[in-house]
Amino acid sequence: MVNVLVIGSGGREHALSWKLSQSSKVDKVFSAPGNGGTENNIPIDIDDLNALAEFAKKNNCFTVVGPEAPLAAGIVDKFNQLNLKIFGPSQKAAQLESSKIWAKNFMKRNGIQTAKFEIFDDAKKAEEYVRSLDYNVVVKADGLASGKGVIVCNDADDAIAAINTILVKKTFGNAGNRILVEERIDGIEASYIALCDGMTAIPMASSQDHKRIFDDDKGPNTGGMGAYSPTPVIDNVLAEKIQNKIINKTIQSMKNEGIVFKGFLYAGVMIRDNEPYVLEYNVRMGDPECQPITMRMDFDLYDYLVASINGTLSTMPKITWKNQSSVCIVLASEGYPESYPKDEVITGFDLVPKNTMVFHAGTKKQDGKIFSSGGRVLGVTALGDTLKSAISNAYIAAEKISWSHKYYRKDIGKKGLSYL
Ligand code: AMP
Ligand code: GLY
Repeated sequence: MVNVLVIGSGGREHALSWKLSQSSKVDKVFSAPGNGGTENNIPIDIDDLNALAEFAKKNNCFTVVGPEAPLAAGIVDKFNQLNLKIFGPSQKAAQLESSKIWAKNFMKRNGIQTAKFEIFDDAKKAEEYVRSLDYNVVVKADGLASGKGVIVCNDADDAIAAINTILVKKTFGNAGNRILVEERIDGIEASYIALCDGMTAIPMASSQDHKRIFDDDKGPNTGGMGAYSPTPVIDNVLAEKIQNKIINKTIQSMKNEGIVFKGFLYAGVMIRDNEPYVLEYNVRMGDPECQPITMRMDFDLYDYLVASINGTLSTMPKITWKNQSSVCIVLASEGYPESYPKDEVITGFDLVPKNTMVFHAGTKKQDGKIFSSGGRVLGVTALGDTLKSAISNAYIAAEKISWSHKYYRKDIGKKGLSYL
């Protein structure tokens, strides 16, 4: 038996801990730092790589990294040097997410379909460029900005304001030293995540996130306000296209460039005229996509994470999924993604039906009670025999939970229904 250390404190990490704790090979699952819903929390910060390594060594842990920041900081390389087992990509491989500019150049030189783009570090030049275009753009900070450094623009004035926000006002700090100005692609967005071992990429179930804060995709982008799996937006033909033209091509091109990609490879894709374009790569599971995906897993996730590290995914049995739909509704604190109140007591957990999971994110436990402590607070995740019934089960449960400034979208999954 082995212990597992899950690094991170979001809903994704709670879902991973929950799933991994079901493995017959796993003894105890620790979370660093974890949240109000995870067990065996260890008060070590996700950027304290030395302390994390020391803990993993002392406690015979197989480590699983949830968020991008420690991956970008090289946690996998560090653990490997110390002969500690860790699941996730190396620092070099993590560049696919840690530098949007690196990722765009990688796609360009390897012929992976993505939106047209230019790179700027000078606001004046970026403005001139935007004024010269006859299409709308998206302005993106180069570095990591918790999913918030992307501004989708409706006209040139919007774009100029975005350029100023990132390059001049430095709202995202050094992550905004350089920007990408790229063509806005209008289409349908979906998330395609594969588990990779450097050579083989096993697709996870498809999913669709809801990035904007308000219903009908209005308002600013967030980390994600809800997700469901599978999504009818990706049919078998499209799945095969994404697997071959994007995922396999990415893994192979990385290999050709001397980089072995192990871990979850997430392609955020926009589908236009039946063709997938990569909007972004993430080098980890999506949050909230992870929550509905893990609920549908009918296999021992631990075995597959081990096979990813060992480079043996091609020898593993075919994975199977529950033949049901799953929906995760993110309950957030009103005001997110800007400022929001914290430390509000949350009630109603006992009223949620047993087969529905309430994955915690921005919560903390104090004196036996759960309090809000972040923007995205909980991810209520339910299964159903159809997408419609999964949506209904998730909303029934979401309504049982209360706190003063609870906010959630009322249309999670609706986009999928229109495809059925
Ligand atoms: P990213 O973090 O790069 O995926 O961007 C966040 C969100 O912005 C995406 O999930 C899309 O909703 C939107 N977005 C990013 N790039 C584009 C693009 N080129 N065209 C249209 N929407 C985009
Ligand atoms: N849900 C989008 C992300 O995890 O980046």
